[in-house]
Amino acid sequence: AAVGSFGAHAQAFPTKPVTLVIPFAAGGPTDLLGRALAQSMGASLGQTVIVENRAGAGGTVASASVARAAKDGYTLLLHHIGMSTAPSLYRKLSFDPLKDFEYLGQVADVPMTVIGRPDLPAKTPQELISYLKREGKAVNLSHAGLGAASQLCGMLLQQAVGVESTTVPFQGTAPALTALIGGQVDLMCDQSMQTVQHIKSGKVKLYGVTTRERLKPLPDAPTLREAGLKDFEVVVWHGLYAPKATPAPVLATLNTALKAALKDPALIKRLDDVGVVVVKPELQTPEGLSTQLSSEVDRWGALIRQAGTYAD
Ligand code: MLT
Repeated sequence: AAVGSFGAHAQAFPTKPVTLVIPFAAGGPTDLLGRALAQSMGASLGQTVIVENRAGAGGTVASASVARAAKDGYTLLLHHIGMSTAPSLYRKLSFDPLKDFEYLGQVADVPMTVIGRPDLPAKTPQELISYLKREGKAVNLSHAGLGAASQLCGMLLQQAVGVESTTVPFQGTAPALTALIGGQVDLMCDQSMQTVQHIKSGKVKLYGVTTRERLKPLPDAPTLREAGLKDFEVVVWHGLYAPKATPAPVLATLNTALKAALKDPALIKRLDDVGVVVVKPELQTPEGLSTQLSSEVDRWGALIRQAGTYAD
C-alpha cells in the first residue's frame, strides 16, 4: 500500500490500474481531455489510469457499456454534453443517464470553434453564412454522430442560419478533422481542445467561436453572436461517471483524485492554452454533476424536439 494510507478501505482501492473509457475516437477532444485527466488522477491514485476509446453512435456505445460494467470503480467514463442530449436524440437507449450512473463530478468547460476546409471560399463569418444559404445541401457538415457536441453545434448552426446542409457522421472529430483538412468535407463545429493547434498552424479556416466572449488563445476570432447569430452559445461541459451502485468509499477516493487532478498546475495550463476552463470546486462534486445533467436533459430535450432530429 502507498505510504500514508490509513485503514483497510484506503488500501483496498485501487489495487490495480483503473480504466477511463472515452466515448469517441483517439486523438480527438474528449480523448485529449481524458488523457490529461487520466495522467493527473493516476498520480493522485497511485495507480495507472488507462485510457480506452470505445467510439460509436455519438458516445452512446461507451455510455451503455460503462452502465453495465462491474461496480468496483475500475471502469469510469468521461463524457460531455452528449450525455444530456442522447435521451432526446435517440428513440431507444439501452441505458438511462439519470439512473444508471454514479456521478463523480464535473470536469471542465470546452468552447467550440466553427472551422472550414483550408480552401473554402468564404473568408469571414458573414461570407460563410451567405455560402451556407447559397449552397444548401451541397455543403458537407461533418460531426461525430448523434449525441456528439459537433452534431449539436452543427444542428444549432443550421437552425440559426436557416439552412439544411448535408451532415456526415464520423466516429469522433479526430477522423472528421482529418477529412476536413484533406478537403473531403467542408465545415465542422469542433471543440477548441482539438482545434486550436490546427487553427494556429493554418491547416483549417476559422470562422468563429461559440462562447459569449472571445477566446484567449484565438483573440482575433469573433464570437458567432458578434457575427450576427443572435444568442448563439454552445459550451461543452464534461462529467466523470462510474456505474450505479459503486461502493461509497471507492467513489470518495475517486472524487478526491478528480479534485486533486483539477488543481494540478500542469493540467490547468494545458487546458488554459486551448481556452478550456476547469469548473469551480463546488461543481467537481456528485451534486455538481447530477444537477447539471438533469437540468441539461430538460433544456436540450425542449430544443431538440423543436429541431426534430432523431435516430432509432
Ligand atoms: C470527440 O472527442 O471526437 C468529440 O468530443 C466528438 C464530439 O462530441 O463532437
